[in-house]
Amino acid sequence: MSHVSIVIGAQWGDEGKGKWIDILAKDAEYVARFQGGNNAGHTLYIDGKKIVLHQIPSGIFHEGQICALTAGVVINPEQMVSEIKEVTQFCEVTPKNLWLSARAHVITPWSIQLDQTNEKNTTTPIGTTKRGIGPTYSLKAQRSGLRMGNYIDTASRKQWIKRQIAESEEFKSFYNSHQDLWTQFEAAAEKVAPYVLDADAKLREAIQSEKRLLLEGAQGALLDIDHGTYPFVTSSSTAAGGALSSLGFSPKKIGNIYGVAKAYLTRVGEGPFPTELDDEDGKLLASKGHEFGATTGRPRRCGWLDIVALRYAVQVNGLDHLILNKFDILGGFKEVKLAVAYEHPTLGRIENFPWDIDTLNSCKPIYQSFEGWPEDIPISGSMSELPKQALTYIANIEELVGAKVSMVGTGVNRSDALYR
Ligand code: GDP
Ligand code: IMO
Ligand code: MG
Repeated sequence: MSHVSIVIGAQWGDEGKGKWIDILAKDAEYVARFQGGNNAGHTLYIDGKKIVLHQIPSGIFHEGQICALTAGVVINPEQMVSEIKEVTQFCEVTPKNLWLSARAHVITPWSIQLDQTNEKNTTTPIGTTKRGIGPTYSLKAQRSGLRMGNYIDTASRKQWIKRQIAESEEFKSFYNSHQDLWTQFEAAAEKVAPYVLDADAKLREAIQSEKRLLLEGAQGALLDIDHGTYPFVTSSSTAAGGALSSLGFSPKKIGNIYGVAKAYLTRVGEGPFPTELDDEDGKLLASKGHEFGATTGRPRRCGWLDIVALRYAVQVNGLDHLILNKFDILGGFKEVKLAVAYEHPTLGRIENFPWDIDTLNSCKPIYQSFEGWPEDIPISGSMSELPKQALTYIANIEELVGAKVSMVGTGVNRSDALYR
């Protein structure tokens, strides 16, 4: 029996991973984020108070647990300082319960600047969060990045800046004209330094001693750099496999893999979305679901659940458990729909998620309709208490995607959950 579980988003992000990681973390001793940076926004309600975590793992509110960021994460140090301060209002955050991998790459003011100008200067913006994520991962891949362990060492950090100035005129000019940004950036190093260590090695030791680990994904499977709707993706491996390379441990150690999906579908930013709705149903999903980005506040695009895409996510991640979240939002609809296949003008009926966005952009969803159920559904307890129409909807999803729905989300709180 393995003690390492992974939780990932099975759609285009914002599925409600934060809430579920907080719920599942009660049985874990360690919770570690394995990719992404402060592009993420994971919303939790602790004692009725809302908090949005961008970098700190969503297990932080459980006493006695250790939260960590592993090698494959990118870290904005200034934002980390303010996030630690914010979380401290609810619970203690010290180097004892928060570990930052020395291998994680640092988001510098330069990467943020590049993200903003890249988005502005292109005719096909991705609709990034403008947090510097893509440029930070690019620098890492170019082997010119700055890692946390070097960032907190004054001599190494200064050397890195010096090298960038020597090698890039653009960097030099940005550096010289934004001294204020660099001063703040450098000042944060001292504050985060006590949290930085070889977190990956320590977590491996924990795995070896059969401690219970929960590995937290950010974004979602359809935003994966390799398996998502490229180029409208993020710059990291958001799928379950990303956890392995980020922490650096044996695939043989993995136990349960949980995928969180909304009972419908949303996307924030640009890119294909075959089931996107531009009608009253879409508006209703957006207003009932309060579909605004937790990081940027942008309205989220809404549509019916896309089975073709979800089945793909089940396969790419090897999901053992599907968590069907925000199920409460569907209550009161007269009719709910599942896109069971796509119709393509030349390729005909498509049941496998296409690898390219040109094909995907030409796909029209083929819907199966289901009778709706009343607005009010049980908030907690057993899934079997759900109205029979809702159970039919869930049974069809399970059958079509090839995974069991083990849990259903019914609200924003820890207790708003139904279990099989
Ligand atoms: P994450 O990025 O996957 O953690 O998700 P976000 O926090 O960005 O977005 C999910 C939103 O849905 C947040 O506002 C949550 O408070 C809210 N939420 C989470 N689970 C549920 C649920 O089961 N029902 C409802 N109505 N809201 C939920
Ligand atoms: P959580 O963890 C939803 C989207 C952006 C954009 C694309 C690339 O809260 O689910 P990036 O800034 O990463 O270079 O942007 O990815 N995106 C997210 N969408 N939830 C997220 O995180 C996201 N993080 C990035 O909107 O389309
Ligand atoms: Mg989010």
